[in-house]
Amino acid sequence: MTRPATKGEVAQEDLAEPMPSCSSHPDNPGIIRIDHLTKIFYEKNRSVTAVDDITLEVMRGEIFGLLGPNGAGKSTLIRVLTTLLRPTSGTACVDTYDILRDPEKIRSIIGVCPQNSTLDVELTAYDNLEFYGKLVNVDDRILDERIWQLLEMTGLDNRAHMKVQTFSGGMRRKLEIVRAFIHHPLILFLDEPTIGLDPEARHEVWQQIARLNEEKTTIILTTHYMDEAEKLCNRIAFVDKGRLIALDILENLKQLIPAGDLIEIGFDRVDDKILPALKAISLVNSVAVKEQKVIISARNGSKVLPEIVAVFEKFSTPMTSISIRSPSLEDVFIHLTGKKLDDGGQPEAKPSSGGRRL
Ligand SMILES: Nc1ncnc2c1ncn2[C@@H]1O[C@H](COP(=O)(O)OP(=O)(O)OP(=O)(O)O)[C@@H](O)[C@H]1O
Ligand SMILES: [Mg+2]
Repeated sequence: MTRPATKGEVAQEDLAEPMPSCSSHPDNPGIIRIDHLTKIFYEKNRSVTAVDDITLEVMRGEIFGLLGPNGAGKSTLIRVLTTLLRPTSGTACVDTYDILRDPEKIRSIIGVCPQNSTLDVELTAYDNLEFYGKLVNVDDRILDERIWQLLEMTGLDNRAHMKVQTFSGGMRRKLEIVRAFIHHPLILFLDEPTIGLDPEARHEVWQQIARLNEEKTTIILTTHYMDEAEKLCNRIAFVDKGRLIALDILENLKQLIPAGDLIEIGFDRVDDKILPALKAISLVNSVAVKEQKVIISARNGSKVLPEIVAVFEKFSTPMTSISIRSPSLEDVFIHLTGKKLDDGGQPEAKPSSGGRRL
């Protein structure tokens, strides 16, 4: 399965120094420990730093999201961790194994669902699973039972003997995800598991991923769908131009936006004195009036809402609507990089205060 190294890669192999101690802390909560990992592709007269000095840990049992725009380096990082590419410098431990010293051992404990499908569409669903099962050394005596288990898990058991070319995109993706899981890997790498799928198929794949995680599998997934990361991931790493720019749980990432939550209150008529009174509330950052709405940005919006309502009551201003919205992951990414997640890296005008993308 290993892709032959290109000329440039071979020339760089000597630069990578193995980390001495992958096996010394088998109970380490970090099941993947990445240490100053860099991958540079050399082509003729130019070089591309796809992964740029990344250091991070993935915890045992979590669903870890790698989020970033096209070309951010997500797939390259996955390919290095799954031992398909050697790093230019730095290294990583996958469980107790070093990516440079123990690639074979690592391959036996991981499952990989690559970004581009590798199913054989001329084969049936059953045959695809059987072929892969043999490849990863699933015992012949249990292989048939395991294949049916996986087919039932995906709801594809009634299509077991149909060629994959007759399957929809969602069916193919689900089959490919469970295929990666056939040998009960400790860690599952999913590269863009739902790209190109319709909303219903995406939800089905999400359920599949959540079910696999319930079996205590650590899952690393890359995506540039922020709703996917919000829905599934325990922790999320933002990558941009090969660099790690933020890593945290969702709630903490959202706190990186100084404007905080956005509260919009509709009105028919408003007393001018209400605005300074709203601004005086301690957690409120800014207050603006737009059309028939007062727009308030505040840290911890749900906590501050009763005080805001009290001010409207004090000034006898009836409210016609109330809405409260916390920043999205996209807002956080724009705040950190000045560009959108899905624009392939085009800078966008920094949002003005209170004017984040809605
Ligand atoms: N084999 C290769 N040779 C040369 N350059 C490469 C190679 N693979 C990736 N790159 C470059 O490395 C950078 C990162 O690519 P990568 O595929 O890791 O990004 P990505 O975050 O997975 O993007 P996407 O969201 O589009 O899948 C890009 O600039 C890409 O062109
Ligand atoms: Mg990719």
